[in-house]
Amino acid sequence: MATMRSSCLIIISLLVLGSLSAFAWTFIKPMDVNDPRVIEIANFAITELNHKSNTNLKLVKIESCVTQVLGVVGYNYQLVLLASNGTTGETNKYWVGLGIQLAIRASKL
Ligand SMILES: *[C@@H]1O[C@H](CO)[C@@H](O)[C@H](O)[C@H]1NC(C)=O
Repeated sequence: MATMRSSCLIIISLLVLGSLSAFAWTFIKPMDVNDPRVIEIANFAITELNHKSNTNLKLVKIESCVTQVLGVVGYNYQLVLLASNGTTGETNKYWVGLGIQLAIRASKL
């Protein structure tokens, strides 16, 4: 019985450590601005911004893109974009952050 209890304790503490470290490891990875995924995300961001704030921005250029990995929780893209105002034609620089959450569910059957 005593050995059973201690092995349970060990398993629990490993799980706690495991989930803490899963949240703790984050790193930033630069992305190639010509990567089709980056272009897709930039276009998606502009479309969403236009939709949400009722603007008419047009993507001119992707200046930079990094992905920030947040353990197993998800990751986000951080982009610096040049976009022109569809009304005035004025080009401005925008910072865009887009989070992608990895949803994992498990249930005991
Ligand atoms: C675009 O220009 C119009 C007219 O000046 C302005 O009202 C609008 O706020 C501008 N949009 C953005 C996203 O800056």
